[in-house]
Amino acid sequence: MSSSIEIKNNLKTGWESPSNIALVKYWGKHGRQLPNNASISFTLSQAATRTFVSLEKKTNPEEAIEVVFSFDGKPNNSFAAKIVKFLTSIADEYFPYLKDYKLNIESSNSFPHSSGIASSASSMSALACCLCDLENQIIGKTNDDKTFFKKASIISRLGSGSAARSVFAQAAVWGKHTDLSESSDEYAIGVDTSLHPVFKTMQNDILIISADEKSVSSTAGHALMEGNPYAPVRYEQANHSLSKLLIALKEGDLETFGKITEDEALTLHALMMCSDPSYILMEEGSLAVIKKIKKFREKYNIPVYFTLDAGPNIHVLYPEKYDKEVSQFIIAELKPYCHQGRIIRDKVGNGPSKIS
Ligand code: DP6
Repeated sequence: MSSSIEIKNNLKTGWESPSNIALVKYWGKHGRQLPNNASISFTLSQAATRTFVSLEKKTNPEEAIEVVFSFDGKPNNSFAAKIVKFLTSIADEYFPYLKDYKLNIESSNSFPHSSGIASSASSMSALACCLCDLENQIIGKTNDDKTFFKKASIISRLGSGSAARSVFAQAAVWGKHTDLSESSDEYAIGVDTSLHPVFKTMQNDILIISADEKSVSSTAGHALMEGNPYAPVRYEQANHSLSKLLIALKEGDLETFGKITEDEALTLHALMMCSDPSYILMEEGSLAVIKKIKKFREKYNIPVYFTLDAGPNIHVLYPEKYDKEVSQFIIAELKPYCHQGRIIRDKVGNGPSKIS
């Protein structure tokens, strides 16, 4: 037995955890998954991963970590190998119990697999919540919220940086920032209490412009920031944007929110275009949609804004009270640019939940 705790049997848990959309982007990292600037995101509600983990006592606990993994009910060995690698990297430091059991992991996404939506934030945070919950079951502790989600955020981060932010309701900041004394590079903190009500119910429709796999992964994109001549200025700009955005989010200042959010999205893609080698992840449809959103906003004076992740898809952000007008606009003018007309209607959500 690798830990001094009694080995229990029939341990299992299930968690559903959402994706998130960054407003100030994390782009560039160092060390062991540490960000080069602080970032902030809205936690989503519809785009989520459900993960169930059950533990089976091992006959030979000294052996390597053992995982059986299935996605959407189908065994997936290449994912299983990635999870084994990840768990091996964190077991000694964070979860010694992982060596005592064989893990059976079943996962599925609420959004279509080929929708082009990044699922690392929801999948890593769902797995992290399961691992923390099982640890508590083993050592006989309850899931005391603050410590539970702090550890879940650390583990999520080690799996995928942006996942650190998914374990908190409504909005979260990851990365040390002078305006937030509790902030840290190692885990995110929830900032929902500093949100004006208009942002607590913000709508986020995801327009699937392309469902193709990205030509350059986020991990490769982060690495390219190392040689990017604009990187130092970018990190300063991001921290400055976050300061301004925190005030706008508190005051309900939609105009400043929209300006910073859109500038951040375009800066992210500009950084890709001036990396060496340069690359472009936007598609023609992304640009067309961006222009249409700007025109619609100016014409009708409705606060609707866009952002993008490291891909071609567009997130359309607007207050709940404009749902009718914006939905009509999206259906009439933006849907034709979507792959198979695909749109995921999402909104700010309440973070992970245990599946009973
Ligand atoms: C553009 O978190 O996917 O979505 O840490 O290598 O897993 P890894 O990268 P990842 O990067 C996401 C970058 C982003 C911006 C953001 O979410 O802040």
